[in-house]
Amino acid sequence: MARLTAPEIQAMKQRGEKIAMVTAYDYSMARLMDRGGADMVLVGDSLGMVVQGESDTLRVTLEEMAYHGRCVARGLERAHLTIDMPFMTYQVSPAEALRNAGRLIQEGRAQAVKLEGGARTAPAIRACVEAGIPVVGHVGLTPQSVHAMGGFKLQGKDEAAAARILEDALAVEEAGAFCIVLEMIPASLAAELSQKLTVPTIGIGAGPDCDGQVLVCNDLLGLDERFKPKFVKRFAELAAVVEGAARDYVAEVKSGAFPSPANVVGGGRVQLYGTGA
Ligand code: KIV
Repeated sequence: MARLTAPEIQAMKQRGEKIAMVTAYDYSMARLMDRGGADMVLVGDSLGMVVQGESDTLRVTLEEMAYHGRCVARGLERAHLTIDMPFMTYQVSPAEALRNAGRLIQEGRAQAVKLEGGARTAPAIRACVEAGIPVVGHVGLTPQSVHAMGGFKLQGKDEAAAARILEDALAVEEAGAFCIVLEMIPASLAAELSQKLTVPTIGIGAGPDCDGQVLVCNDLLGLDERFKPKFVKRFAELAAVVEGAARDYVAEVKSGAFPSPANVVGGGRVQLYGTGA
């Protein structure tokens, strides 16, 4: 099956088909999200928080993103793959942004890169797009600016702030981004942006009127029982399932119930991982 392309993602907006994007950070999760029908998989720098256990995304490196990109790419048959450009890999100059975006394409197997920021990021976006690298924009709450924003907070609450986000989104579209993530902005503003922009908007904490939605896979699967912000819907409660399975496994190892005769390997070839082919 062929992988979806940036123009095909754009065409979904034209025909009114919602775009489902989800993050993944490894082969197994990417494969399941792809089989579940996700249109776009994002190796988000949220990996700093949900994989590495940091309190923000600021310490993630380009090498880590490329490594996780390669792992995820192997699991995808249909979904389009975007990789986040980490903090300080695109802010210094458009030339540096282009060089680093190129590495995520070559070493991370990305089909597109995502850059946070509006008008100030437009020159970097333009440099990538002119070199043939599709770009996903990201405005509203931009977690790499957490210190400047004073925390992970709803953006665009008053008229002036909303007008700045609108200008930012238009600048990102003008620079050539093929879709734009809108994070943590009022639903009414996201609806207005989705109408004004010709490229698709992908919302997270931005209400129902975006052209698509994105969630962190750990959040939609309920992998951390402590984290339940209002904008997240848990489609499963895997924290309890995984913890329960770990508990049962430990108990059976301790009691000697595992491995049972059914788990004892005889002669012949053994399947380890993958298809066994
Ligand atoms: O890093 C990330 O996972 C993201 C999404 C939440 C949009 O940027």
